[in-house]
Amino acid sequence: MSPDLEVLKKEAAIRAVSLIESGMHLGLGTGSTAKYAIEELGRKVAAGELSNLTCVATSQASDTLARSLGLDVGPLTPQAFDIAIDGADEIAPSLDLIKGLGGALVREKLVEVQAKRLIIIADHTKLVQALGQKAPLPIEVLPFGVDSTLERLKGLGAVGELRRQSGELYITDNGNLIFDARFAGQDLAGLERTLKGTLGVVETGLFLNMAERAFVAAPEGVREVV
Ligand code: 5RP
Repeated sequence: MSPDLEVLKKEAAIRAVSLIESGMHLGLGTGSTAKYAIEELGRKVAAGELSNLTCVATSQASDTLARSLGLDVGPLTPQAFDIAIDGADEIAPSLDLIKGLGGALVREKLVEVQAKRLIIIADHTKLVQALGQKAPLPIEVLPFGVDSTLERLKGLGAVGELRRQSGELYITDNGNLIFDARFAGQDLAGLERTLKGTLGVVETGLFLNMAERAFVAAPEGVREVV
């Protein structure tokens, strides 16, 4: 029987955390896979295997978890991170990513753009040949004038809907909404530029040219994608 996905996510997380050394400044990702990395960091600090780590979390949930495990979590400053570890929703062979199904894409991008090394951790179901194959592209939008923003996005060819949770509109840690969109076409850099230039859009879940490597766990073992 193949190990379940939770076991695989944990294996990928443990591999990534093996790169961490005492004294490093870290970016902590968000989501069910990043959670295992935070737990492993907490375990290693508690066991005395790592010390003097400083961290910035990409969501309130990761911040709370990290602090509960005794990690030193602070605000985002212009200081570069040694390593950020995070999950992803889709990983292309080029290591371009879709992120944000966990709702933390803005803080993730703010933190991870400052990382000297962005390490992605995932189970094998996240690998795709081309972004958009399985996951929608999350786009964080301002609540004010959201219907106008959605009209602009639909005018660009986006098909999708505002994210809901338990029937209610999903609100991000930044007080914004998320439009989960699908686009035709593969000019991702062009799409990113266009979306970033669209009034009402705060940020997109396209993480292009950011990841250094991914540890992808499958039943046959953890594979490194570089
Ligand atoms: C959160 C994210 C997550 O990294 C992404 O959704 C993957 O989550 P999971 O590890 O739970 O599949 O981008 O905004």
